[in-house]
Amino acid sequence: MRRKLAAGNWKMNGTGAALGELQALSQLHPSPRIDILLCPPATLLHRAGQALESAGISVGGQDCHAQASGAHTGDISAEMLKDAGAEYVILGHSERRQDHGESDDAVRAKARAAMDNGLTAIICVGESLEQREAANTLDIIGGQLSGSIPDQSTGENLVVAYEPIWAIGTGKVPTLDQIGDVHDFIRARLERRFGEGVGRSVRLLYGGSVKPSNAAEIFGVSNVDGALVGGASLKAADFSGIITALESA
Ligand code: PGA
Repeated sequence: MRRKLAAGNWKMNGTGAALGELQALSQLHPSPRIDILLCPPATLLHRAGQALESAGISVGGQDCHAQASGAHTGDISAEMLKDAGAEYVILGHSERRQDHGESDDAVRAKARAAMDNGLTAIICVGESLEQREAANTLDIIGGQLSGSIPDQSTGENLVVAYEPIWAIGTGKVPTLDQIGDVHDFIRARLERRFGEGVGRSVRLLYGGSVKPSNAAEIFGVSNVDGALVGGASLKAADFSGIITALESA
């Protein structure tokens, strides 16, 4: 009942020269059976949307400001992302939480702005290696979920991405049991807070060193509805391998 979602996060990578990868991606997946999303840098959002439009592949932002407009040099509002063609926005990625000191409260305010403007918020949660080694993973994730997710969330406007910080860009991946434990925990928390109907309809993505070679086994884990992919989304051939694995999961 939940539509699968393969989401690519280009982070601070890519200029106009990279748009060829998106043309290649839309040629490889002209009529996908799952939802595909690409989040390029904001400078490419509009052109990426044009390159992916024929295949019905969506584009999204990597962050937005909580305010609608105003004196916030360098920031982008949710309405601006929507105006540029975005349907989704990634919020509370660990790189934003670390590099920009984003708290759960800040992420929740951004998510409210995104939802108010018709965007689907992909809210990221995840533990550090120290937290996992201290057996604090579920406490940390539970706190991030209650602090970062707004009350107005539904299965349409919210996606949750579990991204262990130690697995991002490192080539290290949790065991399938570890992924399953966290995803089952997130599902239970969402059901408890929002009721079974909404709680069961929110899509849960795994993120952190997903590659074509490990995608199929990760997509076999319960409550994994797709992936948030960094490095392997930069090349059409790699992202395509992940998309194909999700289509056949
Ligand atoms: P990675 O990044 O796939 O390069 O590990 C994932 C992410 O940060 O979303």
